[in-house]
Amino acid sequence: MRLERRELSLVARTPAKLNLVLDVLGRRADGYHEIETVMVSIGLYDTLRFEPESSGRLELSLTGTPARLGIDPSLFPLDHSNLILQAAQLLQTTTGCPQGVRISLEKRIPLQAGLGGGSSDAAATLVALNQLWNLGLTPAELHPLAAQLGSDVNFFLDSVPMAVCRGRGEVIEPHPLSAPLHFVVVKPLGGLSTRDVFQHLDRSVPPRGCEPLLSGLRAGCPRMIGGGLHNALEAPAVSLSSEVAGTLANLRLIPAWGSLMTGSGSSCFSVLAHPVQAARAARRLRAMSDSQVFVVSSAT
Ligand code: C5P
Repeated sequence: MRLERRELSLVARTPAKLNLVLDVLGRRADGYHEIETVMVSIGLYDTLRFEPESSGRLELSLTGTPARLGIDPSLFPLDHSNLILQAAQLLQTTTGCPQGVRISLEKRIPLQAGLGGGSSDAAATLVALNQLWNLGLTPAELHPLAAQLGSDVNFFLDSVPMAVCRGRGEVIEPHPLSAPLHFVVVKPLGGLSTRDVFQHLDRSVPPRGCEPLLSGLRAGCPRMIGGGLHNALEAPAVSLSSEVAGTLANLRLIPAWGSLMTGSGSSCFSVLAHPVQAARAARRLRAMSDSQVFVVSSAT
């Protein structure tokens, strides 16, 4: 994320992510699944503005034009079930800080999309309020708070371009990305619930591991990168959503290094050699359906 001070406020640009590999290794006693995943940060952003509020109250509002972006406000609660306010409250209760904040959010990352928008916003809230409220927490102190909020929040905390994430997703091993990757991302109208997708998982499918993809990235080899892409949650998501199946079928009509669903869906993407090819693919995909289509590159 990028954090900027504007007078008394802080403004954060919070990126989305794509999962290039996602293996499910088993079910844990706490009901979560042990996973191994490769995540990359991409250039699709929400914007959050944090203004000090001396009363101690925590307030969240939406700005911008969510309807145009297909963001259904009923799927986006502004109360304490929202991860942004949960992050702020967790910081207040952990540190005893009496200060409050007014947060306005311009949402561009689609919801229930497997793009990590809510987690990225929560991570930015921890980092920004640590600064705004002068709490002085170290990254090592922020990480356990991030893990309490959700499985993907830790990835966004340190703003690394790529990481292998393990545990339930909260154990982060950063990996350098030597060259940017270029994507076209398609978000069908419907979303998917992470919980539902995990519940429909076929546990007999063996994990394929991250190494084929990571070797492909190190070698800069499109064939190895394409061959290394895989997501154990794709098959259950396809069985739950004909839109995901249709989106993947459309993506596979266009030549690319490879195509995949991200996270627990419902967005899917193709990796392409160049942003110009991604833009050309986006034009074809927009003509095929009503889905939202984004042309993005990874951070390096
Ligand atoms: O961590 P988060 O709240 O985003 O996860 C939502 C739901 O997805 C969990 O309640 C759980 O049912 C499922 N999940 C899982 N294993 C993971 C991550 C999520 O079973 N590693």
